[in-house]
Amino acid sequence: MKILVTGGAGFIGSNFVRFIYNERPDWYINVLDSLTYAGNTKNLDGLEPSRYSFIKGDICDEATIDAAVADCDAVVHFAAETHVDNSVHNPRPFVDSNIVGTFQVLEAVRKHNKRLHHISTDEVYGDLEPGDSKFNEKTPYNPSSPYSATKAGSDHLVQAWIRSFEVQATISNCSNNYGPYQHVEKFIPRQITEILEGRKPKLYGNGQNIRDWIHAEDHSSGVLAILEKGKVGETYLIGANGEKTNQEVVESILGLMGKNKADYEHVNDRPGHDLRYAIDSTKIRTELGWQPRYTDFKDGLAQTIDWYKQNEAWWKPQKTQTEAKYKELGR
Ligand code: NAD
Ligand code: DAU
Repeated sequence: MKILVTGGAGFIGSNFVRFIYNERPDWYINVLDSLTYAGNTKNLDGLEPSRYSFIKGDICDEATIDAAVADCDAVVHFAAETHVDNSVHNPRPFVDSNIVGTFQVLEAVRKHNKRLHHISTDEVYGDLEPGDSKFNEKTPYNPSSPYSATKAGSDHLVQAWIRSFEVQATISNCSNNYGPYQHVEKFIPRQITEILEGRKPKLYGNGQNIRDWIHAEDHSSGVLAILEKGKVGETYLIGANGEKTNQEVVESILGLMGKNKADYEHVNDRPGHDLRYAIDSTKIRTELGWQPRYTDFKDGLAQTIDWYKQNEAWWKPQKTQTEAKYKELGR
């Protein structure tokens, strides 16, 4: 089995590559990544060249993606622009990578008749009120940010290519991931590294927005289960029952890092900030027998904090520029 992993130098893509490398020793992995600010080849250090190769390339480039797809058995498509705040301030790269890029991936898998798994997000469903039922595979799409709208657009393209051209594809929509190697622009690593640099964690608005947290390794095992056992044409939601308010998460991080749990500050809210996400993952659990390994959020968080403590050289180069951007936004 030779798989092509787009976006494999990013946070979750590289977790998936390392996961497959360990779990499927007879598979060969080819990563295609354009190395935007979010991609980092250090995330893939230590992989043997006999089992892995890397192409620096853009999924929007037809010839590049065509050649890479022709040379594999299956594609797992992670590559995307992913940060909601960035999408609100500069949406164009999201339209390019998430919509045009996915179109090019679909055209290549159609031409070469290859299996595709498309990675998407729970944000395509919009947001929930606290008492609402969780998202499931039948929830209507209702995206709210340029990021989620472009991911929703990419899902619709995949669904249309399945129906119109019988492309052999599956889709997964996962909740908020955390774990090692996540860019410091994102909520959890930003707060950990703010504390490590001697500043206070920063909560958008009143801190009562809810996210449904899953460890990136559990996302990877879910994707592998779909790739091996999923039914072509189907969508699967991946989640680990990890709902927490942002305030609860910040308090846990402060507690685990030996700080006063009230030692955070409120900053300007994100425009259009989604209130709550929550995943009902019954389908993947019952049909594919998948279950998460990280069922205690605080254990996963403690492991993640340790990783950032021990890998300052990895995150330090991103930190100054990231905080300068946030400063401009008053966040
Ligand atoms: P990330 O921003 O850490 O990594 C994205 C990777 O894609 C980077 O390596 C980047 O260089 C690459 N990339 C971007 N545009 C590209 C292009 N045009 N051509 C080639 N490579 C390109 O993102 P992530 O958090 O690891 O997310 C990966 C995927 O998972 C995305 O599709 C995202 O929508 C989805 N997802 C993320 C989460 C989450 O909580 N982070 C949850 C559910 C789904
Ligand atoms: O739900 C899945 C999605 O989760 C993925 O599709 C996205 O790619 C990923 O970025 C993530 O989106 P969010 O907007 O939920 O994640 P983010 O880490 O940006 O923020 C998480 C929550 O924390 C959100 O309610 C905003 C808030 N926040 C964020 C930052 C950076 C803060 O309160 N303070 C902060 O400093």
